[in-house]
Amino acid sequence: MLAALEALGIDRAAAEPGVRLGPPKNRDHGDVALGAFQLAKAAKKAPPALAGELATAITPDDVIESVSAAGPFVNFRFQRAALAQEVVGAVQNEAAPYGPAESTDQVVCIDYSSPNIAKPFHIGHMRSTVIGNSLRRIHRHLGATVHGINHLGDWGMPFAKMMTAYMRFGNEEQLHASPMRYMFELYKRYGKAAEAEPALDEEAAAHFRALESGEDNEERRMWQMLRDESLKAFQGPYDRLGVTFDHITGESFFEDKMAGAMERVTKAGVLEESDGAEVVWLKEQGIKQPCILRKSDGTTLYHTRDLAAVFYREQTFSPTRILYVVGAEQKLHFDQLKGVLKKMKEGIADAVEHVPFGLVLSRGEAGKWEKFASRAGNAVFLDEILDEAVAKVRTIIAEKNPDLPDADAVAEQVGVSAIVFNDLKASRIKDVKFDWDSMLAFEGDTGPYVQYACARLSSILRKAETPVPAIDAIDFAQLVDAERVLLTMMDFGTVVQRAADQSEPSAITNFTLALAGEIHSYLREHHVLGAEPAVRDARLVLVDAARRLLTTALDLLGIPAPGQM
Ligand code: ARG
Repeated sequence: MLAALEALGIDRAAAEPGVRLGPPKNRDHGDVALGAFQLAKAAKKAPPALAGELATAITPDDVIESVSAAGPFVNFRFQRAALAQEVVGAVQNEAAPYGPAESTDQVVCIDYSSPNIAKPFHIGHMRSTVIGNSLRRIHRHLGATVHGINHLGDWGMPFAKMMTAYMRFGNEEQLHASPMRYMFELYKRYGKAAEAEPALDEEAAAHFRALESGEDNEERRMWQMLRDESLKAFQGPYDRLGVTFDHITGESFFEDKMAGAMERVTKAGVLEESDGAEVVWLKEQGIKQPCILRKSDGTTLYHTRDLAAVFYREQTFSPTRILYVVGAEQKLHFDQLKGVLKKMKEGIADAVEHVPFGLVLSRGEAGKWEKFASRAGNAVFLDEILDEAVAKVRTIIAEKNPDLPDADAVAEQVGVSAIVFNDLKASRIKDVKFDWDSMLAFEGDTGPYVQYACARLSSILRKAETPVPAIDAIDFAQLVDAERVLLTMMDFGTVVQRAADQSEPSAITNFTLALAGEIHSYLREHHVLGAEPAVRDARLVLVDAARRLLTTALDLLGIPAPGQM
């Protein structure tokens, strides 16, 4: 193809970056499409004209069966045996995009999960945790240097309120016994007490000042203890979800970096005084509320910590992107953060990207979808939700496959994954409907469905009782009728890139559903183990490649692929 470009007088080296292949709008047009836009620019021609010329200049060969132009696109159709050999071979060799890419110059910071430790773990934090975890895996796969950061909410007034509640009513034994639940009790108790006694907020503010003084006092010791207990409690759900971080740098980490950040804002000349507070106005950017960076009592805010964090990340990691996986309700916060950086003319402003997502909805009393709330009140204990999912899957397995070895371990994998998959299924900005029956179904667009497809492939390979045949011994002409599976597999690279560019793990979730669907259809019509040797071997190689790719795709979502279920 590059040779054909040369024949048309386009410089090979200049053309190469413009050669972007992707799935065509309509698979009837071809297997892959080349948009001629950039090449046409280089050749100083109209894209449809160049597409036409290219289509005529490229001659079919052992690999390319036919070429045609459709508007500004050139569509290619591959010889079926060559297609099979190319895709299956690349998957087996873990060549990019099927395996991890070589490192690139992309450095991506991903700020996710980031719960407030003095408040119950919100269901929204589960979404942030799961989406961020997947983005981290996706960018790694694409060769970026990735810093997964848990920006724990372990500072500020919310924390001071918890501390005040603990100092007033707390009991260490109860705290250690069940930290999350006990802190939730304290949180509720504080709310009630503050209603009756508004001065309580004053007391909390005083405790926060004492904490921010940096002295080794009771507040500091209390802070340390509550933070340690919370972190220990979060670790359970993090482990079960397969979530890890490269850095756990909460808001408190920036305590000694805020003065420097404030100095930088002051020097930039954008800080103004307003009722004793220090703020940055952003009206000229269409943002009505000012960004408050220091309160009149001298204490700092959530924004101040985020600003210090941007500077710290810029200096420490030199990121090309900083992704903030935080609910859509914080849009203003991140608009303001980016706005302040822009007003300061900081180049890092361009790297700051809010990755918002929708709510989790559950069915309320009247059967209407409403904001998720558990029966226990307004708290959502993630470990309880996970336990419930696992218990339900355990029951399903007991019915469907009572002899399954390691049934408890499989139920854990499938139950937890069902929730993760449900969360990542639709475009992240949409609200997620939390409905047990639909997310646990083994048929439908669910995690269990995809995991089952994977387990089915593993089971064929196990029953074959021979190692997967070597690629060079395969007659790929035997796979001409697997074109739908192969073409779906071939889209993987485009899909992963889109997931990274748009911060949309849903692109990958949909890929796994499409591939699982094609595999099930293929296996419905084609026997593997009973087929004659040449056919069986070719199909075994296909089954192995599909299993590998499905496993990789699930891994990018943070979902394990059980070998049996
Ligand atoms: N702790 C915050 C909350 O629960 C989320 C923090 C998100 N990250 C950030 N850098 N602001 O609302």
